[in-house]
Amino acid sequence: MRRRLAAGNWKMNGTGAALSELDTLTATHPSPTVDILICPPATLIHQAAQAVQGSGVAIGGQDCHAEVSGAHTGDLSAEMLKDAGATSVIVGHSERREDHGEKDDDIRAKARAAMNAGLTAIICVGESLEQREAANTLDIIGGQLSGSIPDLATGENLVVAYEPIWAIGTGKVPTLEEIGEVHDFIRARLDRRFGEGVGRSVRLLYGGSVKPDNAAEIFGVSNVDGALVGGASLKARDFSGIISALE
Ligand code: G3P
Repeated sequence: MRRRLAAGNWKMNGTGAALSELDTLTATHPSPTVDILICPPATLIHQAAQAVQGSGVAIGGQDCHAEVSGAHTGDLSAEMLKDAGATSVIVGHSERREDHGEKDDDIRAKARAAMNAGLTAIICVGESLEQREAANTLDIIGGQLSGSIPDLATGENLVVAYEPIWAIGTGKVPTLEEIGEVHDFIRARLDRRFGEGVGRSVRLLYGGSVKPDNAAEIFGVSNVDGALVGGASLKARDFSGIISALE
């Protein structure tokens, strides 16, 4: 049985003042029956991890370097994120692919580094609008899955997030059938590559304009085990509505 997961990606939003949202979140969900994860900017990870200590909320990073250490100015290793209090890290978000030219090989190396450091890698995949309109969605997702998931993946160290690029921050959401088609496809690919034991235990998140008012119907789709939420994770009140839809 896969435990459901509500993950919030704050992206490049939030200074110390935003930590009060975590207090609200932990107070609103004192004994959550789902996993809750917040990925704040790296500058806040340490303080955030302290703020949620003893609650059911975990803290994650938004990216990591593929190396353990070295001459990589401005970068952070998975070990550093773990040391700061993170338990997970997002890798391969489409904004990293777009802004930093990250390719599947880079993402696989980052995910491997995260797993080796004892973090859960949340690997993002998703098609552009052009690719969907050309009916290439499943080919694109299939290529991203085989290129970016390392061989050492297990149900504990891997989460896959399906985030159609055209749905991120736009208020546009695929139909429930479209979400179900991609999630079933991802599950089948994981089963085929890792065997059903592992394949069935990896959690699959949907991401892209998830809000409190559309969360319940999205979570009713087969093989959707939770959400990776951007904008609606910034305010505890909104994120709480999404968590409640999972509980
Ligand atoms: O990683 C989450 C994200 O890309 C979705 O963002 O703002 O559409 O929920 P948003």
